[in-house]
Amino acid sequence: MYQIYPLSFADSNGDGMGDLAGIRARLPYLLELGVDAVWISPFYPSPLADFGYDVSDYCDVDPRFGTLADFDALVAEMHRVGLRVILDFIPNHSSDQHPWFQEARRSRDNPRRNWYVWQDPKPDGGPPSNWLSEFGGSAWKLDEATGQYYLHSFLEEQPDLNWRNPDVRRAMCDVLRFWVARGVDGFRVDAIHHLFKDTQLRDNPKNPDYRPGMLPRRQLIRRYTTDLPEVHDAAREMRAALGQDGERLLIGEAYLPFDRLMHYYGAQLDGFHLPFNFHLIETRWDATLLRPLIASYEAHLPAGAWPNWVLGNHDRSRIASRVGPAQARIAAVLLCTLRGTPTLYYGDELGMRDVPIAPEQVHDPFEKNIPGLGLGRDPERTPMQWSAEKYAGFSSGEPWLPVAADYQQVNVERQRKDPDSMLSLYRSLLALRRAEPALSLGSYTELDVPPPLLAYVRQHEQRRLAVLLNLGSTAQAGAVPAELRGVQVAVSTHPGRAGAPLGADLLADEGVVLAL
Ligand code: NOJ
Repeated sequence: MYQIYPLSFADSNGDGMGDLAGIRARLPYLLELGVDAVWISPFYPSPLADFGYDVSDYCDVDPRFGTLADFDALVAEMHRVGLRVILDFIPNHSSDQHPWFQEARRSRDNPRRNWYVWQDPKPDGGPPSNWLSEFGGSAWKLDEATGQYYLHSFLEEQPDLNWRNPDVRRAMCDVLRFWVARGVDGFRVDAIHHLFKDTQLRDNPKNPDYRPGMLPRRQLIRRYTTDLPEVHDAAREMRAALGQDGERLLIGEAYLPFDRLMHYYGAQLDGFHLPFNFHLIETRWDATLLRPLIASYEAHLPAGAWPNWVLGNHDRSRIASRVGPAQARIAAVLLCTLRGTPTLYYGDELGMRDVPIAPEQVHDPFEKNIPGLGLGRDPERTPMQWSAEKYAGFSSGEPWLPVAADYQQVNVERQRKDPDSMLSLYRSLLALRRAEPALSLGSYTELDVPPPLLAYVRQHEQRRLAVLLNLGSTAQAGAVPAELRGVQVAVSTHPGRAGAPLGADLLADEGVVLAL
């Protein structure tokens, strides 16, 4: 699966913001890359307080991105060429500009009032509980006109919907059905673990591990505001709204430890098909940590549950910036050879890096609300680098975020012609994955190699492929296990190695895939 952040992927009309027609024009590229499904981050009408994750109409397209007709044309073309379409679904909160909230805030007895979470002030006038917003400050906002607080787990422009209200659940599942009827193949559901909060409004406990400089919301442990058991009923309802034919995919976004995350598959595997596994993003890039991480994920998976791995997204620093360009190639091999569905963030296939954003260029409210901690997400949301043309071929007008300084070297046009580029590596890996059922369906068995190496075998029926990764920046002489020596390299991160037999040594930062 390939994630497109539509504001930054391709701009067809020169307004500096990407759009749906831009995506459609670039479908040949996605086919050439070799992906199966495309998840498109939000393009719904939105004041863009949180860049689309504040939705003011769930069933339309924001004019900046085009029209419903553009959307239909995009889906038709994607299906024609064999690509699946995954949309973002944002159930936890709407925009404060959504007509539902506009009505709800009109009066305490408005029929829509109970679509959101309202509470009287404490006797001292303060907020009803100590709950914190993910984006800083209290999660409660006083509505002066009606004298009550409303809950916002994210920005105050993103009031939380009340999922305990059956009318809300129905309306939101109708949204899913609306898009299913338009042909979409699935949804990535935003912030699912936030959906339900404690009805008694109990204060969250203090976090003893909090230290200044950490994310402010980490002052508290989110015991009463996230991962409540009721979320699983809601997940089942969303799943049911996808229809009975089993043709559509439900992905859930929740940053949780494995023991909590696994519940999101549903007790009968009737919840999310893929609760996103973000642990490659959250774990330090070190073989001594990654090997047990993979083993732990495999061990936690319920019987019959399908795994998945994510290397990057629009909320986190890019992989090439986190681990450096050489190890980003290792990460590519890892992502494409682990068991389960891999999700690739646009531009990571080029090795795009976070772009420094000057203070006056900051858009992200996370950075604006909590400056100085490096929380801003603009650096990983910059325009896709298509070519060496002005604005990297992303737009004919000035882009909404700056283009990376290195775009003349790091771009699709250039990397497409270079057999040793990151793009070519991704293409080889995805082609191999498509050709070898062992890589998509096979079992996973780790090989006993010392760090900084990480190695495993994927096997389907009689076919076995071995993956050997050097997570270190020095060559590893004699490190290749005896049974892998002399085997022909199918894919390597390094030029000139594919097609030749592997010796006893691995190069610095080298990763290889071998067909045994
Ligand atoms: C997760 C999304 O990925 C992020 O971009 C957004 O700010 C929050 N959820 C709130 O919707």
